[in-house]
Order: sequence, then C-alpha cells, then structure tokens
Amino acid sequence: TKNMNIGLLGFGTVGTGVLQIIQNHQDKLKHQLGCSVTVKKILVSNLHKQRSVDVNQEQLTTSAENILNDDEIDVIVEVMGGIDEARRYIRHALENGKHVITANKDLMALHGSELLQLANKQGCDLFYEASVAGGIPILRTLVEGLASDRITKMMGIVNGTTNYILTKMSKEGRVYNEVLKEAQALGYAEADPTSDVEGLDAARKIAILGTLGFSMNLDLDDVSVKGISAITSEDLSYGDQLGYTMKLVGIANRSGDKVEVSVQPTLVPHDHPLSSVDDEFNAVYVYGEAVGETMYYGAGAGQLPTATAVVSDLVEVLKNKRLGVNGNSVVIPQFDKKLKTDDD
Ligand code: NAP
Ligand code: HSE
Repeated sequence: TKNMNIGLLGFGTVGTGVLQIIQNHQDKLKHQLGCSVTVKKILVSNLHKQRSVDVNQEQLTTSAENILNDDEIDVIVEVMGGIDEARRYIRHALENGKHVITANKDLMALHGSELLQLANKQGCDLFYEASVAGGIPILRTLVEGLASDRITKMMGIVNGTTNYILTKMSKEGRVYNEVLKEAQALGYAEADPTSDVEGLDAARKIAILGTLGFSMNLDLDDVSVKGISAITSEDLSYGDQLGYTMKLVGIANRSGDKVEVSVQPTLVPHDHPLSSVDDEFNAVYVYGEAVGETMYYGAGAGQLPTATAVVSDLVEVLKNKRLGVNGNSVVIPQFDKKLKTDDD
C-alpha cells in the first residue's frame, strides 16, 4: 500500500491536533510505515464553523455513513465524544472491518468490554491510549511494559481540568469559576465540564486503569466519587499552612481478590511527588509486586499531547496491518472475574 486513508469523527480540540500531527509528521510516518497517511474525510456537526487549521472544505461532512461506508478508509479515529452516537459509529466501523482509535473514556469505561470483544471478533484493532492521562502512554505501559508483573496499586492525578483549577486557586489566589472558564478555553475541559469538576471523568479513567492493570471488570458503579466543586480557597490555604496541597486523586487498590477504587479531593503532603504536579499535568503512580514503585508524568489534557497519543495508536494499527496481526493486539481483560467490594 502506498497510502492509508483515515476517517476522522470530530474536528474539535483533539481532532484538529490529530490532523496537524499527521500533516506535520508525514515524513516520519512514511519512514516508520512505508506509506503516506491521509485524512480523507472528517465528520463535524457544523460545516460552516471557522476552523483554526487549513482544511479542504470537501473533506468535511455531517454524514457519518459517508465515512463509515467508504471502502477506501482503513481506520476510523473517533474524537467527537459522547456515548450513544459514538458507540453506534464505532460498532458500525468495526462491523465494516475498519480499525478504530478513540480518545473517549466515557464510552470505553461504560462499553469497553463490548466494543473490544466486537473488535476481536472482527480481527480489528481498537486502541484508546488517549482516553487516560492525555499524552502519557499509560495504557500501553500497563498492558505491555508491566505485562509480566502483578499490579496491586495505582494512584494518580488523572484529570487536567481540576488540577488546573486547584493549582491556579491555590498558587495564584484565582477564583474557581474564572479558572474553570480558562480551562475550557484552553481545551482541557469536557464539553460539559460537570464530569470534570464532579470527579466522574477521573472515575472513568481510574475504572479503565483498574480494568487493564488488575485484569478484572471494574464497573463505574464500583468507584466511589467526590469532585472539587465544593472546595473553597479557604480549604486550600488552610491545607497549605499545615503542609499539604489539595489534589483530586484517584486510587485503585487490590488486596487478594478485593478491590477498592475511589476518586476524591486529597490533602497531599508538600514533599510527596504528587504535590508538585501542577496545572493540566497528570501523574500516575503504579506499584507492581516485582517492579516496585513506578511513576509516569506528563500533560494530561490539551490538543497536541492528546493528539500525540491518538496518532501513536494510529502508528501501531498501521504497523500491525503491515505485519498482518491486527486484532491480536486487542487486550481483553478477564471480564468474568467479578470485583469484590466492602459491601460483598
Ligand atoms: P470538542 O472540542 O468539543 O470537539 C468535538 C468535535 O466533534 C467537534 O468538531 C464537533 O463538531 C464534533 N461533533 C460532536 N458531536 C457530533 C455529532 N453528533 N455529529 C458530528 N460531529 C460531532 O471535543 P474534544 O475536546 O476534541 O474531545 C473529543 C474527545 O476526546 C472526547 O471524547 C474527550 O473526552 C476526549 N479527550 C479530550 C481531551 C482534551 O484535552 N480535550 C483529552 C483526552 C481525551 P463541530 O466542530 O462542527 O462542532
Ligand atoms: N477533560 C479531561 C481532563 C480531558 O481535563 O483531564 C483529558 O482526558
């Protein structure tokens, strides 16, 4: 093959970054893959919106079928967000034998097992590295880098928006609503930022980390969640005076076959590594019985860091295609292994 065609579902913060990286890294992609990569069609909801990058108007469409039924498109990149439509489109793509990449943690936390099983059945890849911790390659680290270990604890700051808000409130004395607006303008927040500030976005990410890290089916209902919307500047400055920084921390712990997963505002001692993770940055601590403590740090939200994770998934899909091993790389955890919580 001389060229691979991509169909992009969504052309907002992340989708625009994906197009930019594909365009700017064409030489590198050609070198790695032995072919060029073209974004053939892009799904948007508004054809007339002003775009921040140069795009051929003919590439844009409001019809998902136009993309999903195009036989010349090999890979679908879903970066539109939402659950029901995105799920329908991804199923349609997989049923048509197309590989799929998504940044959608809402969808993967709720319907990941169903979609991964469909991908496996169809011999297609379904990758979702960008769904957790933006530019940090944490999913691949869990399922490849630490594949031989038994992971017992994961802990981290996995929401960029809330970390940005808490950082600006505590270090610059800024006001919650104003900083939230700034995080939205910078492209960190979800379309409805309630899921960021109420901790649900972090809960979805921790559920994905737990599912992959512990190889068991973690339901969102099993995650206890508290967000940051009730945190005041006074809470932050009292904590600071006592030697603590307030962070929204997700924790997944396993002991035997019992698992506890939670997201909550947490007072982190100033000398703890998580205390200095500021702004939209994320950090994930992973403890494995053999490897011991490991930690991963980087931009957890934003256009180019997130798009990097998406395009790296694309490189993986295309390498698998060249080797003829698509579908084999889809990790399906042992979904029959049921979580035990304190209520059991
Ligand atoms: P966004 O800026 O709101 O962009 C969404 C895009 O999808 C827009 O181009 C919009 O079209 C299009 N779209 C939405 N619903 C559509 C529909 N029903 N039909 C056709 N087009 C539709 O969102 P984003 O920040 O790029 O996030 C996209 C996904 O990536 C989400 O799942 C999000 O959770 C995930 N994610 C985001 C980040 C981040 O830092 N932003 C990081 C990691 C993961 P128009 O342009 O015409 O409005
Ligand atoms: N809204 C998310 C965040 C985007 O702030 O972390 C990255 O998943």
